[in-house]
Amino acid sequence: RSQFKGRDFISLHDFSQDELKCFLDVAHELKEEQKAGRPHPILQGKTLGMIFTKSSTRTRVSFEVGIYQLGGQGLFLSGRDIQLGRGETIADTARVLSRMVDGIMIRTFSHQEVLDLAHYATIPIINGLTDMLHPCQVLADLMTIQEHKGRLAGLKLAYVGDGNNMAHSLMFGGAKMGLQVVIASPKGYKPDPDLVALAQEDAKENGGSVEIVDDPSEAVKDADVLYTDVWASMGQEAEANERMKAFQGYQINDESLKLAHPSSIVLHCLPAHRGEEITDDVIEGAHSVVFDEAENRLHAQKAIMALVM
Ligand code: CP
Ligand code: NVA
Repeated sequence: RSQFKGRDFISLHDFSQDELKCFLDVAHELKEEQKAGRPHPILQGKTLGMIFTKSSTRTRVSFEVGIYQLGGQGLFLSGRDIQLGRGETIADTARVLSRMVDGIMIRTFSHQEVLDLAHYATIPIINGLTDMLHPCQVLADLMTIQEHKGRLAGLKLAYVGDGNNMAHSLMFGGAKMGLQVVIASPKGYKPDPDLVALAQEDAKENGGSVEIVDDPSEAVKDADVLYTDVWASMGQEAEANERMKAFQGYQINDESLKLAHPSSIVLHCLPAHRGEEITDDVIEGAHSVVFDEAENRLHAQKAIMALVM
């Protein structure tokens, strides 16, 4: 497990199936420790810098509470307050923070900014969401699927909606863990074809598959896991009306549950827009595990910090 020390956590594509299994095992173990009330100060005396240039509830709280439970300290660095927001470069920020903290979690718009931060930093960089990827969320999602389904390989995961950061990371995580991932998105909002090609290669090597379709019914048919996300992500507020029209029919609702496997589970990274990408009935219904999923952000994020820091 010490092999992970110092590594960045930027994309699930960067890790092998065995490595991802290790992150998941540690996440389950840390959850058990926490539930049993056993202290686990693995990162005593360590500090995590947390840069946010976008809003967050789950990511901020899971990392900040997580590092505290691991015996360390989190430092919330809002993009509005630190000099980065006034034009100090990523390269300088990376080198300064590397002299003071032991790891950085960053949530921002441009994925390249995270890659640049990792290039200049000498400490591990954790991707807390970019416009392209959301790997921390998908680690928690895989953990949640394991808890409810007892396995990952061979399950069918249907994602209905925007081919966004969530779709991309689900493709990568699903492909590596041997799931059959089917993504249904409208024209113009499909996942990035270059990332799809990469994920399809990963899938081939790991016994999974990744397929992009138009029809949501085709995706959800016999699916074990149903997943959706907002139609307009952070930073796309100005496109909300246009997107609202484009995504009509790309919703997880009672009809989707009828087509899916009878014991399917429903996931959503949250925050949700009820009545748009998912109905209130479904997100509040018996198949929904969205709050287990949200809780697992804490355990999964602790596993990442424990291993890379
Ligand atoms: N799912 C997720 O990342 O939530 P936040 O935006 O609240 O962090
Ligand atoms: N796709 C959403 C995910 C939020 C957790 C966004 O980027 O806003």
